[in-house]
Amino acid sequence: MKPSYLIKGFPGHPTHAPLTDATIGMYSLASILAVLAAFGIAEENMATGWWLALIVGLVVNAPTAITGIADWFEITRWTPLWKTATLHWIVMVSSSAVFGLAAIFGHDDYTAGDVSGGSLLLTLIGFALLTVGGWIGGSIVYVHGMRVLNLEDEPTSSAIRPGPPHREGSD
Ligand code: HEM
Repeated sequence: MKPSYLIKGFPGHPTHAPLTDATIGMYSLASILAVLAAFGIAEENMATGWWLALIVGLVVNAPTAITGIADWFEITRWTPLWKTATLHWIVMVSSSAVFGLAAIFGHDDYTAGDVSGGSLLLTLIGFALLTVGGWIGGSIVYVHGMRVLNLEDEPTSSAIRPGPPHREGSD
């Protein structure tokens, strides 16, 4: 087994993809809770959930970014794929930074049980960037086809087992 599989995942099963689900899920939850708090729905509970979701999002953000960087280093520079992937990470890092600021400046809101206008704004800006960056991430995979094997006739047993599919070799 190649050591790089430990970070990047197996061919056809990139580690970055499921981690992005966890990160996007947490930041989306934080954004929804912030909006509900703004509408005054169970505000104290929403403020607590909002901040904690931001923190969990920031924690899972780290392995998400590391696995993305590992894949990005594989791309040939200045190709259209590289430009799309570079735009992706610039937007994603910006989104993470804004969510980080929301968590730092929103700590007082968390303890007070009230999401302030500034915290809501930062969270929504982070979410807008997350949406744009996620869209661009989709372009890397579903338009450029990065990390897609497209082995339509690969036997199911080989396609679902942990490890590279047969036609990718068995190292
Ligand atoms: C908050 C952090 C990040 C999130 C939420 C995120 C999200 C995504 C999403 C949704 C995709 C499409 C995956 C799919 O649908 O299968 C993707 C792909 C990709 N991202 Fe990210 N990304 C993040 C950070 C990064 C960083 C920092 C880099 C590089 C420096 C990067 C590089 C890539 C690459 C190369 C792909 C295509 C190959 C693959 O799926 O691994 N990402 N990302």
